[in-house]
Amino acid sequence: MDVREFRSHFPTLQGDDVPVYLDNACMTLRPKQVIDAVQEYYALNPSCAGRSVHRWGMSVSQTVSRCRRKLADYIGVKQAREVVFTPNATHSINQVAAGLKWKQGDIVLTSDREHNSNLVPWLKLKDKGVELRTVPSLADNSFDLEAFETACADAGGHLRVVSLVHVGNLDGVEIPISEVSKIAHDHGAIIHVDGAQSAPHIPIDVEALGCDLFSFSIHKMLGPTGVGALWGREEIMSTLEPICAGGGTVSSASASEYSLRTIPDRLEGGLGHYAGICGTEAALDLLSKYNMHDFATQEIRVNDIISNGIKDLPGVEIIGPQAASKRGGICSILLKDLDIQNVGILMDEVGGVFVRSGLHCVNQWFEPRGYMQGSLRASAYAYNTEEEAKCFVDTFTEIIEGLSGGV
Ligand SMILES: Cc1ncc(COP(=O)(O)O)c(C=O)c1O
Repeated sequence: MDVREFRSHFPTLQGDDVPVYLDNACMTLRPKQVIDAVQEYYALNPSCAGRSVHRWGMSVSQTVSRCRRKLADYIGVKQAREVVFTPNATHSINQVAAGLKWKQGDIVLTSDREHNSNLVPWLKLKDKGVELRTVPSLADNSFDLEAFETACADAGGHLRVVSLVHVGNLDGVEIPISEVSKIAHDHGAIIHVDGAQSAPHIPIDVEALGCDLFSFSIHKMLGPTGVGALWGREEIMSTLEPICAGGGTVSSASASEYSLRTIPDRLEGGLGHYAGICGTEAALDLLSKYNMHDFATQEIRVNDIISNGIKDLPGVEIIGPQAASKRGGICSILLKDLDIQNVGILMDEVGGVFVRSGLHCVNQWFEPRGYMQGSLRASAYAYNTEEEAKCFVDTFTEIIEGLSGGV
């Protein structure tokens, strides 16, 4: 792909004092098209979808249904109504966990490297008698299919839901979801996929993945903050109890009862983030001009330079498989004897390199291993260049050598 051309869409990547932005697993930057679409919503037709029938209202309603269709296309979904807008992936997962009907003794299975957003919503079900079990990963953090199969069998007939991160924000490692889905289904469970770190970086086809539910966030794929999405098969989505009911979700309501609308409305309570949805459409329009395989290739190219450039430095350990090709755009680094927050601050001060330092909301992986301060994580997106990767390596090397010399 033409990375320079792609970069030209991003105002924050123009000019003289441009940071090396490698915090894309948190959120990507926004192209001008998205910023304009958000602004145009407020400047030209700041109205409400699905309710007001004046010109502005009708225009926003049309944008919302167009955007829903484009979002469905983006992840390979035929029925657009199966996709609902949410504020973020966390909300999507909470909607699934709290919206399903549970029985005492039901079991949910996750991995040991889940973001807290795909952990806590399931832990919250403890008071309903639902047990959360965890499948340990292999030593290099890749998924242990054998251990997973054993865990499914051990759950007997009680396994209800398998919920797994597709690509880990901890390490960029991908779980073979299509194989996992078959196994989960063979054991009578449904499978929910946390796609927050996969949808922005690799092509997604939920049919090929064989999953039943898929959560993702738009701010990690060029869109505005405050927009996420949840897809699920109609038969599941139609029975989910909304966690936010009221305006927009009911077909009738009296002082004593109510009936819910069909999907997607029943799961989209209250006035939506219409500016965000306008921005989402602009993001999807831009993304549709590129090939996600090219995005993944460019991100691995950048990660390869970063990983090879730093792996032999003293006290440095990359989390996950050593080959960058198995970690997408993510290089998550453990640092012995150094203050990781301090290194994160220095990366900006010394080289203008923006990274993330800390636990990345994956406490369950770091804390049992005694890595209480987490890791320093560089995460690439398709606009990152090889020069930026080299800048990361030079800045990081200077800091580590400087700090280690002083220890
Ligand atoms: C793997 C993963 N799951 C879930 C989330 C939560 O996403 P959101 O911020 O959209 O709620 C994140 C955010 O970083 C993530 O990386």
